[in-house]
Amino acid sequence: MPNESITITDNRTNHVYALPIENGTVRAMDLRQIKTDPEDFGLMTYDPAFMNTASCRSSVTFIDGERGILEYRGYPIEVLAEHCTFLEVAHLLLFGELPNETQLKDWTYEITHHTMVHETTKRFMEGFRHDAHPMALLVSTVAALATVYPEARDVHNPRIRLLQIKRLIGKMPSIAAMSYRHSLGFPYVYPDNDLSYTANFMNMLWRMVEPKYAANPVLERALDILFILHADHEQNCSASTMRSVGSSHADPYLATAAAAAALSGPLHGGANEEVLRMLDEIGSKDRVPGYIKEVKEGHGKLMGFGHRVYKNYDPRAKIIKWTAEKVFEVTGRNPKIEIALELERIALQDEYFIKRKLYPNVDFYSGIIYEAMGFKPEMFTVLFAIPRTAGWLAQWQEMIVDPEQKIGRPRQIYIGSRMREFVPIEKREAVSAKKA
Ligand code: ACO
Repeated sequence: MPNESITITDNRTNHVYALPIENGTVRAMDLRQIKTDPEDFGLMTYDPAFMNTASCRSSVTFIDGERGILEYRGYPIEVLAEHCTFLEVAHLLLFGELPNETQLKDWTYEITHHTMVHETTKRFMEGFRHDAHPMALLVSTVAALATVYPEARDVHNPRIRLLQIKRLIGKMPSIAAMSYRHSLGFPYVYPDNDLSYTANFMNMLWRMVEPKYAANPVLERALDILFILHADHEQNCSASTMRSVGSSHADPYLATAAAAAALSGPLHGGANEEVLRMLDEIGSKDRVPGYIKEVKEGHGKLMGFGHRVYKNYDPRAKIIKWTAEKVFEVTGRNPKIEIALELERIALQDEYFIKRKLYPNVDFYSGIIYEAMGFKPEMFTVLFAIPRTAGWLAQWQEMIVDPEQKIGRPRQIYIGSRMREFVPIEKREAVSAKKA
């Protein structure tokens, strides 16, 4: 037995087991040998919300939550945000390396030439109500892409996988822009292949009657930085949904739609929209202490604060704060930044937040920039989903080729009734909705 092991004494039987430790983990399946008798199923772990369970080996993204470190493929996020474009970072996440000039040119060409959506997809989108939430629209439309590309089901073919990856990264901004314009009743704008990934997205969002859209370079770069910051975040709720759905070998459009659905919730990517609502509700700097008092008394949460993994300042929030100032030089200062800064200042000095290690997360400042750029809060999570698609696909691809992975299937501790006597319908009592 190697030194890297743990000895467990089962006090029920007095049997002693030595289990190997690898990478700071024990294999949950090694516990199965611990039984009270041969009929016993064996010991399991109970970990609701996966607080302490690694579900995969990954070389995509590294996070040290205690120190506030985030790296993609070993490169610190700060370095990537300063020097790269989003498409370079997407290449890094998907293929493990930053592209050289030729590779970047080819990669950009490939993505650019997959930005068009099929006319049937356009018609599909036209069927939604004008006031549909853009995130619901995005999720549904990404799932509908499965109807356009049936070959995507061949998830074990690397060539076919790569084609869907390019299609998804290419089409995500187009679908996002269409969902925005749909909500305004504006005609859709077709992609412009002369523009960068981000500038083309802005073109599809905001071009009106001008023959050629020219993006403001500061805003284009700011959006690109935001895309880099949101591109991946290891095994969060949406990435693990992507892996879980993908583990059944469902096609990548359906798995991405599922991941985007997970992202939409207010505890995950939907938090950026909630932060803006919260800042609106607070209204002014002087009302911040009162709001924090209410949160501490258990009335709601400080949205954009706290993280399952970060127990320090989220490094992405620092970069977003800096980027916000650049954006404000063009758009004028969003007055909500003052309320946000005051919230952060007071919360970071408050015993409640210090004790629980609650710091601003990526969603705390992103909405303020987006609003300054002219986005409605309903679009914020859609803006998150565009770049995160690269991360989801990197996680999916890694899962598909990992020989250790199988269909995801957690265990449960069954706490319900057993072997009940069947009651004919005429003798059944009404069940109260509460009990159900
Ligand atoms: N405001 C006030 N209190 C909070 C907050 C918050 N934002 N976040 C956590 N807490 C408190 C909890 O009430 C709990 O207190 P207790 O120990 O007295 O019960 C303690 O801090 C620990 O919080 P948990 O909810 O157990 O932490 P968990 O890891 O399960 O949740 C989460 C993390 C969901 C992000 C949580 O911090 C939260 O709801 N934050 C607000 C929503 C948000 O900003 N989400 C975006 C996260 S980033 C992303 O997904 C892209």
